[in-house]
Amino acid sequence: MSTMEKELRVGMVGYAFMGAAHSQAWRTVNRVYDLPARARMSVICGRDESKVAEAATRLGWEAYTTDWRELITRDDVDVIDVCTPGDSHAEIAIAALEAGKHVLCEKPLANSVEEARAMVAAAVQAQAAGVRSMCGFNYRRVPAVALMRHLVESGRLGVVRHVRAAYLQDWIVDPQFPLVWRLQRDKAGSGALGDIGAHIIDLTQFVTGQRITGVSGLTETFIKERPLPSEAAGLAASADGSGTGPVTVDDAALFLARLDGGAVGTYEATRFATGRKNAVRVEVNGSLGSVAFDFERMNELEFYDATAPGTEQGFTKILVTESDHPYLSAWWPPGHIIGYEHTFTHEMRDFLEAVGTGADPTPSFVDALQVQLVMDAVTSSAEQDSAWTEVAPALAEVAA
Ligand SMILES: NC(=O)c1ccc[n+]([C@@H]2O[C@H](COP(=O)([O-])OP(=O)(O)OC[C@H]3O[C@@H](n4cnc5c(N)ncnc54)[C@H](O)[C@@H]3O)[C@@H](O)[C@H]2O)c1
Repeated sequence: MSTMEKELRVGMVGYAFMGAAHSQAWRTVNRVYDLPARARMSVICGRDESKVAEAATRLGWEAYTTDWRELITRDDVDVIDVCTPGDSHAEIAIAALEAGKHVLCEKPLANSVEEARAMVAAAVQAQAAGVRSMCGFNYRRVPAVALMRHLVESGRLGVVRHVRAAYLQDWIVDPQFPLVWRLQRDKAGSGALGDIGAHIIDLTQFVTGQRITGVSGLTETFIKERPLPSEAAGLAASADGSGTGPVTVDDAALFLARLDGGAVGTYEATRFATGRKNAVRVEVNGSLGSVAFDFERMNELEFYDATAPGTEQGFTKILVTESDHPYLSAWWPPGHIIGYEHTFTHEMRDFLEAVGTGADPTPSFVDALQVQLVMDAVTSSAEQDSAWTEVAPALAEVAA
């Protein structure tokens, strides 16, 4: 560690899917990027002692604890990384910010707008004392997505007219798939909308630089009752044979949107797109060109340049692996592609870069509140036969 480098001691809550992804990123980030701050994997937290002890060893953490309240008051922790389901984000993040810890919180920020607002208030207050916060929308950190934003920002697409976004998965098509926490409103806040729709809302607002101002939404729950799971586990749970329970969230959420720069958008989030595993698809059409991205081919970006001679026009597949593409200077030679886990390494890179230089990382809790406001508007619209529903700007709330 150079003498100029700050050490940031991380305490992470939750050790399953995101816990493992974040651990890998914390382990890797300073070995790949030269940064003003160095992450130290200090303490991991989970409720089950034997499981969290095993996770600490497997994932590379120095110590463990079974109580997040103890974690946030420890002197040997500077950053709290929240990798739990949405029902505990607000409580943990607010308490951590009040204890003076920087916070990285997984998406969606919260289970409701009310909780998200309280988190923003805590973040704004903490910011005055130099305490930073960020929400983990990792798809922003796919190099092809960052390139997409760069092309829009630098005017290569001209005036953006259309945003076409879909996040398609199929892991609950089987009606016998159990009632895991993602299918319970009290744990997850919403279904496909918050779990995956949140990503495409953030991603498209990020890429276009435009804010969604109004929506008309539609939600559907195809399978209304499912077997109870063996434990409140993640994606790999099995039924425990003790009966069934009601699905209390949406299986699919669709909406039309207007954005504040004049673009119109269509959005679809579903876990019933049979055959689609993790297809995060975004296409943007502008007056001078288009870009199209699909996460299942995450190293590629399709670009159509309408200013090229007519005889040469067509979608070009850019292999986004050049060292001067976003994030890639530190990785492999051109054509040696990267994967899902790199998006988290890039997330930690951006977090450490900002916190290490005393700046606010993005997306901020305000950006994440903006996503929450869109989700809330989609839900209310769907409850009122898809009535047009305005989305207020989160920044105006913060300023008020
Ligand atoms: N960025 C992404 O692409 C992405 C992908 C998946 C999940 N997520 C988000 O990450 C969060 C976690 O999802 P996951 O898939 O890792 O879930 P998971 O079920 O795999 O893991 C959740 C972990 O939290 C622990 N936990 C639950 N409640 C807790 C509490 N009160 N105190 C301490 N530990 C608790 C569980 O024991 C488990 O270790 C969610 O907010 C989810 O939306 C983000």
